[in-house]
Amino acid sequence: MDTNWMNNKTVIITGASGGMGKGVAEKLIKEHGCTVIGIARSEEKMKKVVEELGSYADKFSYQLFDVAVEENWIDFANYLKENDIHPDVLINNAGILPKFDRFQNYTVDYIKKAMDINFYSAVYSIHALLPILLESPSPAIINIDSSAALMTLAGTSVYSASKAALKSLSEALREELRGKCYVGIVCPGFTKTDIFRNQDSADAKAQKMLNMVSTSCDRMVNMIMNDIKFKRPLGVHGFDAAFMNYFGRIMPVQGGRLFSTVMKASKLPLFDSVFKD
Ligand SMILES: NC(=O)c1ccc[n+]([C@@H]2O[C@H](COP(=O)([O-])OP(=O)(O)OC[C@H]3O[C@@H](n4cnc5c(N)ncnc54)[C@H](OP(=O)(O)O)[C@@H]3O)[C@@H](O)[C@H]2O)c1
Repeated sequence: MDTNWMNNKTVIITGASGGMGKGVAEKLIKEHGCTVIGIARSEEKMKKVVEELGSYADKFSYQLFDVAVEENWIDFANYLKENDIHPDVLINNAGILPKFDRFQNYTVDYIKKAMDINFYSAVYSIHALLPILLESPSPAIINIDSSAALMTLAGTSVYSASKAALKSLSEALREELRGKCYVGIVCPGFTKTDIFRNQDSADAKAQKMLNMVSTSCDRMVNMIMNDIKFKRPLGVHGFDAAFMNYFGRIMPVQGGRLFSTVMKASKLPLFDSVFKD
């Protein structure tokens, strides 16, 4: 296995303005000489990425658009063609984590929004870009999924549904494109990024609990990079993700109940709206 297969490739990565996406973009540029096109919405955050890249900044460019809108992907595919840009790798990483809550407390509009960002963004990007990617001698699609796709917990109905859909889509693509395009799925567990902004993290106990179970962003980025290097079909990272992978397969019903018992017993305000009547 050539673990440097991605050296000097052109990579598109969504959510490159922060968290794991930014970390992976930096590694691809600095350690593999890749040219990265990052996609996100905040120009301010993107400018910071460019600044931090310093002398490597010429390897990074960005496009600002909402990944949840199909039209934006069609325009982006046209932009690539018009500018004679030939991407080899697509990493679907942008995503949001809705606040832990009961299904009934989410509005249908909010559920649609979460599905659009976490799932349909990948549908649109792959649909629009696959023909272009397949022109590469070593095309690849990597979808950053979640441990939430491996097992569903109370309070995560919408997030888990979006990530389970992404996992199923990726698994089908992996077989349909076998031998033509590497398709990788990464399921990280809790990772220290800004994704918890929607949670009630003002609660100090909840913050402590999240910190305890979370993997550092750098460490997670390294594990994701290894998955890509070795073209692994599935990466499950973080001890919480390993737990969920195990319980999700061995005892999918009782496992869910066990996690609910632990979450309830924690008495964290974070889970109040999930369990309090
Ligand atoms: N952190 C965790 O504990 C964890 C665990 C498992 C899986 N994951 C998954 O890992 C991926 C990355 O998460 P992270 O923790 O790095 O999140 P993060 O720090 O919140 O970063 C999310 C990135 O996605 C971009 N983004 C969000 N919505 C977007 C939209 N509609 N259009 C374009 N860009 C958008 C954000 O940029 P802008 O704000 O500039 O648009 C940002 O660059 C997500 O798919 C997440 O579900 C995270």
